[in-house]
Amino acid sequence: MNRIETTIEHCKTSELASQLQAACRAALVGGTIIRDMYNAPHSIEMKGAINLVTDTDVSSEAAIIASLNEDTPDIAIMAEESAGDNPKIPEGKVWIIDPLDGTTNFAHGFPFFAVSIALLQDGVPQVGVVYCPMQDELFASCREGGAWMNGKRIQVTDTRFLVESLVATGFPYDIHENIDEVLMQLRDILPKVRDIRRAGAAAVDLAYVACGRLDGFWEMALKPWDTAAGWLLVTEAGGEVTDFTGKPYSPFIPEILATNSAIHQLLKDQLE
Ligand code: IPD
Ligand code: CA
Ligand code: CA
Repeated sequence: MNRIETTIEHCKTSELASQLQAACRAALVGGTIIRDMYNAPHSIEMKGAINLVTDTDVSSEAAIIASLNEDTPDIAIMAEESAGDNPKIPEGKVWIIDPLDGTTNFAHGFPFFAVSIALLQDGVPQVGVVYCPMQDELFASCREGGAWMNGKRIQVTDTRFLVESLVATGFPYDIHENIDEVLMQLRDILPKVRDIRRAGAAAVDLAYVACGRLDGFWEMALKPWDTAAGWLLVTEAGGEVTDFTGKPYSPFIPEILATNSAIHQLLKDQLE
């Protein structure tokens, strides 16, 4: 059995299994385009002062949408490069797509980026896939079916103390408007943890919490396509995801705190 077959076996229903299979197929299609274009010259446009979009984001998005439309023609699609700036919580089933999470990394040849695809039903995550093309790591989860990486079950760490925790964060594109809050968070958290990473792809940060490479992750000013898939990966791997005050998470709120669960309260106390 290949890594997708091994994973979808664990889905609770055949419908979820075929949706997870569709998400994996689309993520591999997008990821292959990204990997093929990694060493080619990029055409880059600016969405904001430091917010880039490349021709690869656009090509990956088109190919992912085509793949999902072929496999699940009845499911609506919300994708970053075509969704507009203020997406609303959709009703019913919708695919939420980030065709290239970590565009700045991609544009600079820093090989930490991914495709992120989630299926939400009335705002509740059903399927979440994050594919890192340079590492060929396929993180996949379906509701109540666990979380998997390349067909092997993954779970969060059991680290209980901040001083033993490796955590990650990210900086918003509108950093000039948020600089005080970001620096305050770093000032409070950095001396208490083992170390902090800012690797530049929120979807991958969440996948890394799910598989135990990180103990926790927080970030403000994110969009639904950054987090929707990683949210399910973390919860299915035994972790916890909330806003900074511990309230239930939705990818349609801008802030996220995702941890192995054991350090959730401790990290939340630093962010509140
Ligand atoms: C970005 C990455 C980054 C995070 C930004 C996101 P993009 O997504 O996830 O790590 O800090 O806030 O917008 O623009 O590369 O898809
Ligand atoms: Ca993103
Ligand atoms: Ca993106």
